This record gives sequence, C-alpha cells and structure tokens, in this order.
Amino acid sequence: MSRYDAEYAAWQADPDAWWLGRAAAIDWDRAPSRAFDAGEGVYGRWFPDGRLNTCFNAADRHVAAGRGAQPALIWDSAMTGRKAVLTYAELTDRTARLAGALAARGVGRGDRVIIYMPMLAEAVIAMLAVARLGAVHSVVFGGFAAPELAARMADATPKAVITASCGIEPGRIVAYKPLLDAAIAASPHKPEFCLVLQRPEHPADLGPHDIDFDEAEAAATPHPCVPVAATDPLYILYTSGTTGTPKGIIRDNGGHAVALTNSMRMVYGVDAGDVFWAASDVGWVVGHSYICYAPLLAGCTSVVYEGKPVGTPDAGAFWRVCEEHGVRALFTAPTAIRAIKREDAAGALMKQYDLSRLAALFLAGERCDPDTVVWSERLLGKPVIDHWWQTETGWTITGNFAGLGLFPVKPGSGGKAAPGYDVQALDEGGQPVGRGKIGALAVRLPLPPACLPNLWNNEKRFRAGYLETFPGWYQSGDAGMVDEEGYVWVMSRTDDIINVAGHRLSTGAMEEVLASHPDVAECAVVGVRDTLKGQVPLGLVVLKAGVEKTEFHLQQELVKMVRERIGPVAAFRTACIVPRLPKTRSGKILRGTIKKIADGESWTVPATIDDPASLDDIAKVVAAVAT
Ligand code: COA
Ligand code: AMP
Repeated sequence: MSRYDAEYAAWQADPDAWWLGRAAAIDWDRAPSRAFDAGEGVYGRWFPDGRLNTCFNAADRHVAAGRGAQPALIWDSAMTGRKAVLTYAELTDRTARLAGALAARGVGRGDRVIIYMPMLAEAVIAMLAVARLGAVHSVVFGGFAAPELAARMADATPKAVITASCGIEPGRIVAYKPLLDAAIAASPHKPEFCLVLQRPEHPADLGPHDIDFDEAEAAATPHPCVPVAATDPLYILYTSGTTGTPKGIIRDNGGHAVALTNSMRMVYGVDAGDVFWAASDVGWVVGHSYICYAPLLAGCTSVVYEGKPVGTPDAGAFWRVCEEHGVRALFTAPTAIRAIKREDAAGALMKQYDLSRLAALFLAGERCDPDTVVWSERLLGKPVIDHWWQTETGWTITGNFAGLGLFPVKPGSGGKAAPGYDVQALDEGGQPVGRGKIGALAVRLPLPPACLPNLWNNEKRFRAGYLETFPGWYQSGDAGMVDEEGYVWVMSRTDDIINVAGHRLSTGAMEEVLASHPDVAECAVVGVRDTLKGQVPLGLVVLKAGVEKTEFHLQQELVKMVRERIGPVAAFRTACIVPRLPKTRSGKILRGTIKKIADGESWTVPATIDDPASLDDIAKVVAAVAT
C-alpha cells in the first residue's frame, strides 16, 4: 500500500480522528473537543467549540517560537523593479499596527472590510490585520471594474475599505481611487472610511473619508489578536456563479487554519523555513490560500510577486524569481506556463537560471492540456503536478501529494482525491456512474474543513446551487470521470462559467451586459478554445429588426461596455453578429449545444431544434475564432 493509499484509508476509517490529529498543528485559544458536528450549520460545522485567531497562527506564534528573524514575505515587483523582505517579527508588528489603526476607527469583530489592492506586501498585511481583529475581509481583484466592486460592496456592507492608489499593468497604470470612488457612488452601502496606500507611481487625491495608510499605521497602537469561534467567518471571497450576481464564498477560521496548514506538507511537500511561491493574485482563491494564509500558517516564506510571466522583462521572469529567492514549490495557472512556453519553447531563458532548489511545479485554476505538463516536466526535470480545486473549497480536491510520496503523473488528469474528499462522478439521478464513465463530479458530504459552510447572505442559493441537485453530495459544477486507478479527470463545467487565463468568469454576467445594448435583440456568450488562455469569451449577437450596424462598430461598443461594467479581466474582445440563435421549437436558446460546439466537443442536432441551419452558423463563427 502506498503512503497516499494508507493516508486516504486512515482518513476514511475515522475522519474525525484524522482531522482532530491535524488540528493539533494549530495554536488554539480553546482546543476543539470534537472535529465535526453534523447538527450545526447547513451540512454540519468543523471544530465547533474551538477558539483561535488566524492571524496569531500566521504571524505571532512564529515569533514566539523563535522564527522572528525569518523572512515571512518577499515582495518582488517586476513592474517597478523594487523588492522588500519582511521578517515574521516585522510582519507581526506591522499587522498589529494596522489592526490598531482599524480598531481605533471602530472596526471590530464581525465587521467587514473590503481590500482592493494590487500585489503588494501590504495586501497580505491588510488581510491579516482584519483577521487579527476577528473582522471579515473581502478582497476584490484589481482587474474588476467599478460596478463589480460596487456589487460586492452592496452585499458585504463593509465598514471600511483598504486600497492602494494604483496598480501597474504592462504599459499602463490602473488608478484604483477613481474606480473605488465610482463604486462607492454606485453602491447603496457606503463604507465609513478608506485607508489608501500611496504608491509613488501614481499617488491619489484623498477625499474627506480617505486616510493615508502609512500615516495611520505609523500612528497606531499595536492591537492584540482577538480570539474568535472556529466557525466565525474569516473572509468572504466573491466568485462567479451562474448569474451575473457574484456569490460570496464564506471561509471560516478554524477549519481553514487546520486544512491549509496540513496542506503545506501533505500536498506541496514544504515545511517551515521553505520558500513557497504562488504566482497568482491575492484577489483569487489561490492568492488567499497560498500567497497569504497557508505558507504563513506553516511558517514558510511566501513570495508576493507583482508582474506577469512574460514581458516583465521576458519569459525568464518566473525562473529568475525562483533562483533569486530559492523557491522550493511554485504554484501557478497553466496559462502562465503556456505563455512562457510560447516565448521560450526551447527553454533557453529557463536554462539561464539555477533551479536546483525548486522541487516541483504545481498547476491549477483551469484544465491543463497534457502538452503543457509534458513540456514543463521535460525542461524543468521536476514533477509537474496538476491539481483540481475551486474557490468554494479553498484547497485542493484532487492532487498528487508531494508529502505522501508522488504517484505517477497522468497528464490531463488532476490526480487522485485528497484525504478529506470522496469524489465520484454521478449520473442525473445522483448515483455514481462507476469508474471510467463521465458524470457530474461531486463530493460526498460533509465537505472537509476549509470548504465553504455557506454563501454570504444567501443560504437559499447555497442549497440550490450546490446541495439540492444530488442530496448528500456537493455538486462541483464540473463534469468528468474517476478512472479505474482513482485518477480524476476534470473535463468541463456543467454551467455557464468559463476559465479565461485562469480567471473564473460568468458568461451569464457578460450576456447581461450585451443584452443591455440598445441594438441587441438577443445574445449568447460562450467560451471558445484558446491556445494561450484556455478559453476566451465569444459574444454571439442577434440585432434588433431594422438595425444596420457593422460588426466592427458593434463589437467596439460591446467590448467597451464589458470592460467598463465587468472589467478588463473579462478579456472580452470578440462579438459576432449571427442571423439567429439556435432555439427549440418552444423558443428556448439551445445553450447546451452552443457550448458543446464552442468547447470543441462532439455534438448532434437536437430533435427539438426549430432551425438546424442556425447551428451551422454558430459552428462557422466558432471555427473562425478558436485557436
Ligand atoms: N488589475 C487591472 N487589470 C488587470 C489585472 C489587475 N490585477 N489583471 C489583469 N488585468 C487586465 C490586463 O491588463 C488585460 O488588460 P488589457 O485588455 O488592457 O490588455 C486584461 O485584464 C486581461 O488580462 P489577462 O487575461 O491576464 O491577459 P494578459 O494578456 O494581460 O496576460 C497571461 C496573459 C497568460 C500572461 C496572464 O493572464 C497570466 O499571467 N495568467 C495567470 C493567471 C493566474 O495567475 N490566475 C490565478 C489562478 S492560479
Ligand atoms: P476557481 O474557483 O477560480 O478556482 O475555478 C474553479 C474551476 O476551475 C473549477 O470548477 C474547474 O472548472 C476549473 N479548474 C480548477 N482547477 C482545475 C484543474 N486542475 N483541472 C481542470 N479544471 C480546473
């Protein structure tokens, strides 16, 4: 029996004992007496009588244990050429001060604070400072436009916002303050104050409710950690759902701390003192879990990188960071590796760097094409591990576990279920389809610690979206199969979510924008295969009768609208006019068939279609756009 098999069997035999054992790695103010209570919450709650503070576990306790002088964060900005190192002692001090600055202005346990920041060490400090107070942060990705920020503000009703004056994208400065001001103006809920970190590249004009971040931090009295219930929310992270309204994934304190601490050794094979780099953004779940919380909970050094995999300055950027900071485990999205591969196919740039300290490359966030795994494995000469997870789970559902001894990689598969998850492909009736057959991927309840216990302000949507289709199971929204050897293959989403360059987006949200254009009668947005970004959105638009507009002009207007309402991250660049959308005879748009055509899957003409020729039009458009 392999170590993975043994660990998985141990978890299956007694999940409560297995997780209580993992909970011992956390410093509790009151240790939990039991792991799971099925009677609490929607499907049960983890460590319900435990009390702790997550920031204490991520910062202070390492100082108390003698690791104060160890780097906690390495900030490396390829965009500005600046770097900084923060030791655990400095991180603790700065976090305590920022918490003091927030507390002095009335932020306390349970209050929400929105963090809208680029990739700065201060983004992590802000997250921890909020957690230190027992308050709840909600980080919003910088690539979203003001209306998306406003929607999150309206739902989370934050007492405060922490922001920076600007972000820096290749060739342009993204001024955050005007976006924030527009969001506040549009939101029915107004925060009481905003802390603004002034960046020299583009300082912001401060208004009456704005406070200079540095000045507030310098003047503050350090605040101690506030113990909270393990089941109290640590953060809300909004993610795309099947409608344009984002859903607020709740993460709790106790289960999150336990599962994420455990994951560092079990999944990534790293320990305290190792350097871990998640090349993502704090605005995404990967950034929450593996730039901020997990590496710090485990006493590692976490790299906070502001830059892109290519062009800043070149496709060797990632390998320079790995060499310079002695990265042991690198985690990024396949799209980043595809971007590097495109520009450095022979690995000439990669070979300029000493990657001897890099033990493995981990990929997630979107389906990884086998070529990318094979190419990077060959050139790096290291294990390349694809693992499947979601904003909802906060850590990996399936993987290949560096801390348990790797099993052979099957390129294209996301590995095997992590101890904690029972993953099955189900048929429409909620029965496992059996090994090697495709179905809806689902996880048997209860979900393990760290997974969402609910949606913020929306239990009904939580039940309907995840729990009611297959009673007793969590519906992942992905389709795929579990093969004879237990490897899980994630094929496609079963809903309207697409993954563009590792960014999770709702086509429904984009359709809402296109439909609001005065010339558009009806529309559909689908994800079309793209060799770099995995998928890119394609708008299929039917014009209102009598409208005469060139496709070029309409596209320009629609692209601008999506950029202004959702944000540049939507990467919406193509809209095509079609004479009509394929529909059933009862007038329902055949989205499933359109999606299959766009995904490049085999499709048949549905018996219920009213005009079969309309599908040929779609197929032609998709063929012209897909790469
Ligand atoms: N703030 C403001 N704008 C942002 C942004 C941010 N934080 N992140 C992205 N954008 C903008 C980009 O500047 C771009 O704008 P443009 O239309 O003016 O060019 C747009 O959003 C689309 O960005 P992206 O899809 O990232 O495309 P790109 O061409 O800039 O870069 C890659 C392509 C592959 C290099 C890049 O997507 C990448 O590094 N992906 C990795 C993704 C990742 O880490 N995902 C997290 C999950 S692990
Ligand atoms: P996000 O919530 O942004 O992490 O996106 C989650 C979705 O991304 C999943 O539901 C999958 O559709 C997709 N995804 C994430 N990781 C993988 C993977 N390793 N393989 C295939 N799809 C993945």
